[in-house]
Amino acid sequence: MSYLTLALAKGRTAEASINLLANAGIHFSHLNEDSRKLVFYDDDSMIRLIFVKAVDVPTYVENGAADVGIVGKDNIIEEQPDIYELLDLEFGQCHFAVAGFSGTNLHKDGTLTVASKYPTAAEKHFNRQGIPIETIKLNGSVELAPVIGLADVIVDIVETGGTLRENGLTILEEMEAISTRLIVNKASFTTKSERVHTFINTLKKGWNDVS
Ligand code: PRP
Repeated sequence: MSYLTLALAKGRTAEASINLLANAGIHFSHLNEDSRKLVFYDDDSMIRLIFVKAVDVPTYVENGAADVGIVGKDNIIEEQPDIYELLDLEFGQCHFAVAGFSGTNLHKDGTLTVASKYPTAAEKHFNRQGIPIETIKLNGSVELAPVIGLADVIVDIVETGGTLRENGLTILEEMEAISTRLIVNKASFTTKSERVHTFINTLKKGWNDVS
């Protein structure tokens, strides 16, 4: 039997994802969130795990390099992959928000500049309101942009709100709620149907046991 390949997001949800898998009886030796190794095997469940940047998980799954993936809804909204999203795993909860200095006018004359790791999500949000924006794509430390004068506001995920507070910023508009999802490649869902369903049921069991 060949391996079912699982793409797992590094970063903020990695530890909870690894715990969920362990709770479901899927163990990868030496796997931890700080690991420099990128491929792990569990020969009991015949699962090959690839440990990739969260933003890349949708790409691996869409292209069939991974059959299934565990990743935040933020990356799914941003990348808009052609995949099936089958389970809300309910951890890694946070939400998208527009943030900036208190009192920032989002309806100012001219174009609002918005810095974000999520330019597509930002554009969608402001398009819906008919507010013209220019997006500035950043890859991290986004809160710096209004502070340093690079952008009027940011669109980012907010979990505890600590990073905003530490930088003197505040939420100006709440956006979508985010949590971790299980996604599946469309071809694998058909051609490896039994394997995929077994994996989902195993995961559900581990999930029920922790929740
Ligand atoms: C995320 C996000 C915010 C912060 C929000 O960044 O982009 O900066 O976490 O969390 P909080 O509301 O609990 O403070 P991440 O930690 O992923 O690092 P990054 O800035 O390098 O992208």
